[in-house]
Formats: sequence, structure tokens, C-alpha cells
Amino acid sequence: MSIDTSDMPNIVPGALQPLDIAALAGPDAPQHPPRILLLYGSLRDVSYSRLAAEEGARVLRALGCETRIFDPSGLPLPDDADADHPKVEELRDLALWSEGMVWSSPERHGAMTGIMKTQIDWIPLSAIGGIRPTQGKTLAVMQVSGGSQSFNTVNQLRILGRWMRLITIPNQSSVPMAWKEFADGRMKPSALYNRIVDVMEELARFTVMTRGRSAMLTDRYSERVETQEDVHKRVSS
Ligand SMILES: Cc1cc2nc3c(=O)[nH]c(=O)nc-3n(C[C@H](O)[C@H](O)[C@H](O)COP(=O)(O)O)c2cc1C
Repeated sequence: MSIDTSDMPNIVPGALQPLDIAALAGPDAPQHPPRILLLYGSLRDVSYSRLAAEEGARVLRALGCETRIFDPSGLPLPDDADADHPKVEELRDLALWSEGMVWSSPERHGAMTGIMKTQIDWIPLSAIGGIRPTQGKTLAVMQVSGGSQSFNTVNQLRILGRWMRLITIPNQSSVPMAWKEFADGRMKPSALYNRIVDVMEELARFTVMTRGRSAMLTDRYSERVETQEDVHKRVSS
């Protein structure tokens, strides 16, 4: 099967292969296109972290994934609005819909941006309607910066990924001097672009391989003990 790369001039024809879901996950596993939510951490009109996420989304779609990109404009600060605020509901619905995520943040003062952290802080770790929005799902982390090469922000995003119990994939993207790497809304061809393609391929594969097994992978002894103790308390009270 070939891939349509007509809107991706940086891709070398024939070098990108579609996801083989049956080979990766087995013929009995879910075969639907992996659902990936992409978050970016900037409200600037021309935002390189958004453009990097958009490049990632194009690659994911070419591989055979479904993608959604959340626009963080208008999202209130955590606890400054109720959870039924439309932007919060939109974000939470997308998190529930997703089977994997991409977090793409700028580096500001050596750290992820407030709007990046705000989005993650609005996604609860606990279950909504019986489903945990992040636990056992996959995550890829990306950063852009104005200065020289740095990994401060991807390292912080990894810590957050662990905190949200996401399966954070090994590969990652960090684009230094991002202002040099984009023109007219698209990323120029470079090793940095190729790295984004690598990260998306890896994310799609990990998502397909783990999504049908995430309940089993995230089952915890300590939580089974807590559940048994709760039942015991209810029965004996
Ligand atoms: C207040 C502020 C602080 C910044 N701090 C850093 C920094 O610590 N390291 C760095 O490499 N770039 C820094 N930058 C540059 C941004 O990372 C760069 O402009 C990036 O493209 C912003 O992301 P965006 O294009 O998605 O908005 C800073 C920019 C601003 C406005």
C-alpha cells in the first residue's frame, strides 16, 4: 500500500510506509485508525510549536491515523472556571476520544509555557464516566525554542507524562532556533524535520501495539489492595 505524500514536499517518495496494524498488534486486535490528539503551547499568531504539531499531524494522517488539534485560545486558568466551561469540555472530550497524544511546547525561560501546563492541568487523572482520560495511552513530546539546542521542556513534559500515567515513547523532537526552520507556515527540509517523522512513526506504532492492552498494562497491585479494603469496609459497616 502506498502513502499520499502530496501535501508533504519534505518526504522522500517511497521512504514512508503506512502503519501495518495487523502485523503490529495482531489480527484480533482493534484495527481502526489510531486516534491522536495534538496539543501545542502557544497563543501566538505565528506559532512554531503549533506548526511543528501540524507537521506531525500530517505525518500521522499519512500513516493512517485520525488526528485532532486542540486550539488552546480561550481556555481558562485551572480552577478559574468550572469544568463545564466549553473550552474545558472540548479539551476533556478530545482527551477521552484519543488513544495517544502529542504535546508540543515552546521553551520559555527554560521551561514549558503556562498555556501548555494549563491544558494538562485541566485533564483529570481520575476517571470521567468510568474512563481515565490519559492512563495507559501513549504520548510523544516535542519542543521548539528560539535559542540553541535544549531539552529542558521535553524533559519536563516527560515528567508530566509519567504523572498522567501515559506511556511516553523514547524518541522526542527538539527544534532549536525554530525561527530558522519554518517558512510560509511549513517546516523546511532538515534533519529536524526528519526527526519529527521518526517520532510520529514511533508514536503510531506504540499506540497500535498498546491500545488494546492498556487496562492490563496499567493494572496495579496497590490499587487492587485498596479496592479490596473498600469492599471489606462497606461489607463490615
Ligand atoms: C518570554 C520568553 C521567554 C523565552 N525563553 C526562551 C528560553 O528560555 N530558551 C529559548 O531557547 N527560547 C526562549 N524563548 C523563545 C521561544 O522559545 C520561541 O520564540 C518559540 O518559537 C516560541 O514558541 P511559539 O513560536 O510556538 O510561540 C522565549 C521567548 C519568550 C517570549
